[in-house]
This record gives sequence, structure tokens and C-alpha cells, in this order.
Amino acid sequence: MKAALGIAAWTRTGSGIYGTNASLRTCRSSSSNGAGALPKPEAAPSTVVPGTNDPTPNTRQTRSRPSRRCDRSRSAPFRKCPSGYIPGVPVPSEPIWSCDPHTVAKHQILKVYLKQWLPTLLLGGYRGVTYAEGFAGSGVYQGGEAGSPVIALRAALGQRQLLEAGKTVDLVFIEEDQRRFDILKQELTKVWAAASQAAPVPATLRRPHLRCADHADVLLPVLEQIGAMRQPVFAFLDSWGGTDVPLDIARAIATAPASEVLVTFGTRYLIRFGEQDRQKEEGDRVFGGTAWRKVFTLPAGQKKLFLVSTYRRSLQEAGFRYVTSFEMLDEGGHDLHLVHGTSHLRGLEKMKNAMWEVDKVGGVQFRDPRDPAQGLLELGLEPNLMGPLHRALQARLTERPHTVAELKQHALCETAYRAQHVFPLVRRMLREGHIEQSTPGPLSDNTLLQLAGPKPVQDSLF
Ligand SMILES: C[S@@+](CC[C@H](N)C(=O)[O-])C[C@H]1O[C@@H](n2cnc3c(N)ncnc32)[C@H](O)[C@@H]1O
Repeated sequence: MKAALGIAAWTRTGSGIYGTNASLRTCRSSSSNGAGALPKPEAAPSTVVPGTNDPTPNTRQTRSRPSRRCDRSRSAPFRKCPSGYIPGVPVPSEPIWSCDPHTVAKHQILKVYLKQWLPTLLLGGYRGVTYAEGFAGSGVYQGGEAGSPVIALRAALGQRQLLEAGKTVDLVFIEEDQRRFDILKQELTKVWAAASQAAPVPATLRRPHLRCADHADVLLPVLEQIGAMRQPVFAFLDSWGGTDVPLDIARAIATAPASEVLVTFGTRYLIRFGEQDRQKEEGDRVFGGTAWRKVFTLPAGQKKLFLVSTYRRSLQEAGFRYVTSFEMLDEGGHDLHLVHGTSHLRGLEKMKNAMWEVDKVGGVQFRDPRDPAQGLLELGLEPNLMGPLHRALQARLTERPHTVAELKQHALCETAYRAQHVFPLVRRMLREGHIEQSTPGPLSDNTLLQLAGPKPVQDSLF
């Protein structure tokens, strides 16, 4: 997989963004070093998470880290038995790595989505919103590409008019690797300084709240502390695709009004190692129960789809009404799923729009994990590649006749497609004789459709 193995090492210092290290009461022996944390800027809000900075020097090297054992005595919000750095899932050991095709696609989706999400909520009656990341990274890639925290900061800076009108935006970034954390601070500071050159950044865009810590320990306490849970929160939980995100985090975020999560979900680790005791516990935390363990009994070809659907259901049970997912495949065929949870149909529509607006990214392909034939999606919508939706609608109509409106709702909520993909496809299916109208008149949302009946056999003698 060309994606993951970075080489460059950056050792820059200095920043103006306010960051702290929170206590790390995990089972890991390695630590985050808060000694180098920056002085607070004058207007920095009080966002110190309870706990102490760990004074030991940073010796953390992600790849050489010994596997972590579960500490059952922790009183932190989440007891964690993380997968660590994940057998079977390549992860970079360096603080900055190259931007693989998955990441390029993910960033495009994020950029497009935030451009819509921020004004929609700020104009929609909320005084403020919070964007939070549990796995922030270093904010920059080897080729100089922006990391997701920088993308988010730029998106917030792009809302100057709303900020000047008094709407507030908080940004929370958690990164547990000290080296990446330090670089992240520098990157955010550079963007902030560049934005302040023309005119000061409105005070309603708060200085990013940064923590060098395990997100499972500090994300929710930080959100509580800054009062974020009383307003919409968008949480991007972008792990390497191991078992790092406990469902309890999503469950807590779901209690904030109009909140959403975007989770990077991988299946390989659990498929390969899930049957071991420790991994079973990790899996239970990710899924919020043991239902996922059925995966061990399934044939190889069904495991991935089963895990993704079970995870979608877990997020729904955690409080997100609409959960959609997209599978991204790199050149090596390695899959990673982007799973989005929201309780608002408009949020779902906008995320679908963002997913479909992604330009073709060389080396990455997309798939709807729910498509039994595993057809590829051609983003940018090549009409010929509607196979997965064709199959989904056909399956729906096998059950009973449906209106066009019902099929649109099904496409939006249960497939990777958008509602607007349905009309042209239905026309084609009618033209090609796969389906027929049960109600007469021009095609509209109210038209009832059914599968085409068998054609009467023509007897050549008559
Ligand atoms: C996939 S990268 C994030 C990339 C970033 N979101 C972006 O798109 O630019 C995952 C990051 O999470 C960090 N990380 C891993 N486990 C973590 C944890 N439990 N808490 C906080 N950060 C973690 C890693 O050091 C790494 O920088």
C-alpha cells in the first residue's frame, strides 16, 4: 500500500496556538511530554483538562511501541485496551507521512462538507458550533498537503461574515503523538498568522483547543469544559482503522443537539485478530456490545459487509438516526470505510453530496459496502455505473411496489447513492423494461412502480 509509510522527520519548534498535554492514564508506558507546551495566548479560553502533565521526556515512537495491555483499574471515562499500532494495518512511524489516495479523498469530502455544514448550522439558529478531532495528526503531509485540522481551521476562517455577526466556532484537536502534536501547533499557528495579516481574526473564532493525549481520555472532558455539548458538534474520529474509537464517545456526542460523527472504520484488524481475547474486548467497545462477534462464524466473503453493517447499526443505536458509509479502496485493494452519523436528513444529504463531489482521485476507488455484487461507484456519476443502485432498487421492488419517493428515500438512507440518482435510473429501467408503472401518467414522486411482469410467450404458430 503506497499510502502509509512516511519518511520525513520534522523538528520545528514554536507556535502561537494554545495547546496542553492532558494526563495519560492509559496502560501504555510511553508518554506525552507537556514540558514544551506553549504559553497561552492572551485570549485563550480556559480549557485545561483535569489531570497533570506527564513530565517524562517523549520517547514515543509509534511503531516500536509495545502492545498495550488493558488497565482495568482506570477511572478515566473510558477504560481502553487499544489495538496499538495495528498488526495487519500499515501505519507510519514518522511524524509526517505521505498523503495516500484514501486521505486525499477523505480531505476532499471533509472540505466540501464543512463548507456547507458551518453556514447551515450557524444560519440555522445556533449561536455556535464545535468541530472536534480525536486523531488530529500533524496538520501537514510530506508533500506539504494540509491535514484535516488545517482544512477545518481554513473552513472556519472562511466564515468571517458569520463570525463577525457574533456566531462562534470552537475547534478541538487531540493528538497523542508528541512529535505530531508539536508540528500540528506550528501548522495551525502559521495558518492563523496568515489569516490575521489582512485583518484580525474575529474573537468569535476561538483559538483551537489542543491536547496531546489519548482522545478516549480527553475528548469528551474538553467538549464538556468548553460548553460544546450544548450546541452542534461535528466530531471527526479518524483513526488508522483499528479499534481505537469506543462507541461510548459517539454515544456521548450524539447527545449534543444536531451533532454528527465521521468515523474512519477498518475491518481488517478485527477480521484477522478479532477472535483473540483482548481483541474481542476491543471490538466490544467499538461496537458497544458483542453482536459483531458473529463475524467469526461467517464465510470470508461476508465478514466485511457484516462488520460494516453492524457498525452502522451501532452508531444508530448510539443516537444517530441516519448512518451512511462509503468504502474507499486503494491500489492494493486495502479498504477503509468512512462512516457518517447524523440525526438530520439534511445532514445526510449534504454528506452524500460531498461524497459524490469528490474528484476522481488517482488510485482510489469507491464502493457501496451494502451492494451484494460489490460494484464500484464512479464518483462524478458516470451513468453506466449505476449497477449497485439498479440492484438495490430491483431488490426493493421485489418485495412490493414502491413509489418513486420511497425509492429516493431508500437510495438516500440505505445506499451510497443520492436521492437525485433515482429519477434518471428509474427512467432507464422503465425504458429497458425492467420495471413498469403501476399508476398511469407522467413519472413523478407519487408514481407507483413495480417489477415488470413476465412477457407473454408468443406462440410462433399463431
Ligand atoms: C490517520 S492519522 C490522522 C490524520 C488526520 N486526521 C488527517 O486527516 O490529516 C491518525 C492520527 O491519530 C493519532 N492517534 C492514534 N491513536 C490515537 C489516540 N488514541 N488518541 C489520539 N490520537 C491518536 C496518530 O498519532 C495519528 O497522528
